[in-house]
Amino acid sequence: MTANGATPLGATTPEEVAFAQDVPRGEPILEVRDLLKHFPLTKGVLFKKQVGAVKAVDGVSFDLMQGETLGIVGESGCGKSTLAKVLMNLEPATAGSVKYKGEEISHLSGAALKAVRRNIQMVFQDPYTSLNPRMTVGDIIGEPFEIHPEVAPKGDRRKAVQDLLDVVGLNPEYINRYPHQFSGGQRQRIGIARGLALKPEVIICDEPVSALDVSVQAQVINLLEQLQGEFNLSYMFIAHDLSIVRHISDRVGVMYLGRMVEIGTDLEIYDHATHPYTQALLSAVPVPDPAAREHRDRIVLTGDVPSPANPPSGCRFRTRCWKAQEKCAREDPALTVRDWLEGRARHDSACHFAGERDNLI
Ligand SMILES: Nc1ncnc2c1ncn2[C@@H]1O[C@H](COP(=O)(O)OP(=O)(O)OP(=O)(O)O)[C@@H](O)[C@H]1O
Ligand code: SF4
Ligand SMILES: [Mg+2]
Repeated sequence: MTANGATPLGATTPEEVAFAQDVPRGEPILEVRDLLKHFPLTKGVLFKKQVGAVKAVDGVSFDLMQGETLGIVGESGCGKSTLAKVLMNLEPATAGSVKYKGEEISHLSGAALKAVRRNIQMVFQDPYTSLNPRMTVGDIIGEPFEIHPEVAPKGDRRKAVQDLLDVVGLNPEYINRYPHQFSGGQRQRIGIARGLALKPEVIICDEPVSALDVSVQAQVINLLEQLQGEFNLSYMFIAHDLSIVRHISDRVGVMYLGRMVEIGTDLEIYDHATHPYTQALLSAVPVPDPAAREHRDRIVLTGDVPSPANPPSGCRFRTRCWKAQEKCAREDPALTVRDWLEGRARHDSACHFAGERDNLI
């Protein structure tokens, strides 16, 4: 697979050159291969017996490039948060490989895990519940220094926390206040400051603005973008809102039932999607212009999302796919570029019959 999407080498026309410039460069900072996270399903009270498994993440491969933002989208329950937790080593992987700067990190423990954790931090969805209400903002932001005193020795901590407050646009004098004395947007800034405390290289943002008012969402997104430039951060940005993901992402990965089904640059995914699931997701994005809305060809998905404990054979999307054929039940489609795809649609898609909507085969 080409985790970075295919780049049209030898681009000559202005359009090809512009497209080539869209593709993020640099080395991968995270390399994820065939990652699995299965939660055992057990039966019995006294003698627990495993009767199956929830396949929350079930064979996910992708690269996160240095300095890029990779957006991750997909319906509720498709495994986005589980993927984030496994990458953070908050949940052990069932199988598969995660490399950070070329070093395998999925099976680390003790001091080695602690050292890697410093470089990969997370910003959580809900700024109302993710901050301890009994701790001051100074203690919340400075807590990671207790685990990594080498980043800010005891005497320097107050100053380090005040600098972080300043970096995220909060008054450094608020250091002794408690979370309830802040608005939702301010609390998320505190969460971001805490995420930045150990000077990480990768930040995994799991729905960082979903709990915020629309007006505040843009401010937090702008802050994340500004910090990325300042500290050369790589982001994995999980969100439901496809417009926000397009705004912030260099590339976008689409997940369905524990799998990555399509991945490419924002342009490839939003304007040249080739997987029917991505096309359906995009067709449901609200369009502000009523005239454009009228002419839009919306795809309404029928049927429920199947259980991740018992996914369909072959292509997992086949029970809801309008293009499904007999081959789809038989063969699991690989995430790869299909021979027949051309131009901007030449990126990885896990569909036997991948094709742009106006060019369906
Ligand atoms: N600790 C757990 N034990 C058992 N099943 C779990 C556990 N955590 C998650 N799951 C299951 O794994 C699947 C993926 O859940 P996950 O939270 O990763 O989805 P998500 O894509 O983040 O959804 P949302 O958009 O709602 O946040 C779901 O079916 C969920 O019920
Ligand atoms: S492989 Fe078949 S079922 Fe799956 S998305 Fe493609 S056409 Fe639909
Ligand atoms: Mg989630």
